[in-house]
Amino acid sequence: MPFPSQRPRRLRRTSGLRRMVRETLVSPADLIDPLFVVEGSGIHEEISSMPGVFRASIDRLGREVDAVLQAGIPAVILFGVPESKDGVGSGAYAEDGIVQQAVRWIKQRAPELTVITDLCLCEYTDHGHCGVIAGDTVDNDATLELLARTALSQAAAGADMIAPSDMMDGRIGRVREALDEGGFSDRAIMSYAVKYASAFYGPFRDAAESAPAFGDRRAYQMDPANRREALKEAALDIEEGADIVMVKPALPYLDVLREVRDYFGDLPIAAYQVSGEYAMIQAAARNGWVDGTRVMVESLTAIKRAGADLILTYFARQFAALAPEQRGA
Ligand code: PBG
Repeated sequence: MPFPSQRPRRLRRTSGLRRMVRETLVSPADLIDPLFVVEGSGIHEEISSMPGVFRASIDRLGREVDAVLQAGIPAVILFGVPESKDGVGSGAYAEDGIVQQAVRWIKQRAPELTVITDLCLCEYTDHGHCGVIAGDTVDNDATLELLARTALSQAAAGADMIAPSDMMDGRIGRVREALDEGGFSDRAIMSYAVKYASAFYGPFRDAAESAPAFGDRRAYQMDPANRREALKEAALDIEEGADIVMVKPALPYLDVLREVRDYFGDLPIAAYQVSGEYAMIQAAARNGWVDGTRVMVESLTAIKRAGADLILTYFARQFAALAPEQRGA
């Protein structure tokens, strides 16, 4: 029955009514906090293009981990920044590699914190690509073996969940097989299944020193123009054994996120609000051009509304620190 009997404004009249009919609420329990761990000691430096986000050496990691625990955030995802790199990214699978050391350290200090390890070679290769190079391309199948080895070493260090972000074909199956054979059939895989070749990763590549030295990642990451391909990538990774699939970036790809959510009803979907998304909001807020807190809440709410069960975001702690009513609760 239309106007005048239907008046949707009735349920928007007071904040109490709006709270009662609010459909989507982001909770700190939905969030995963990315941490950058650098080799060396005494390092705790802010990333210039990502204000509020730090790179820390293990001896200075305590502050970061305590803040995550205090905020009630259940999980971190670790990115390693090694001192030296080589052609095959051997720092990624070294037993005393930076991520392996960090996992052991965190698990000792905070066993209840879920530790996810990003699995990729780009932070460890001197050419900055996500796999080993053959001619002018990344050799898919040779890379799989190094990824399997890296995943095993991360699991052995105590990682609860492995998150392959390299976009090689067949990596989920190969990593699952390696984990199972190595006695880690209990460790989960969160696949960066739908990962676009995006310009929004710029600040991350500064932070992780992982920009490719030549070319770009378009021969393995997805074309931003493609939607059907997202369903194909997610389907393959689920078939190969992924426990959670991710869409990345988040805000520019909410249509894709919604579709993946609707299509794959039976497993959790994650979305990554990436470094460029974070940097843009922070830059505008610092200029006084937008209300940073409100844009943060609105963007995270939109990502959840579009279908994300889990959100990887550099805002995790800032969001969790808000009063419940600022988050709409
Ligand atoms: C590693 C990796 C990247 C990100 C997460 N894992 C960079 C890339 O693919 O170039 C991006 C995260 C961000 O921008 O916040 N492959």
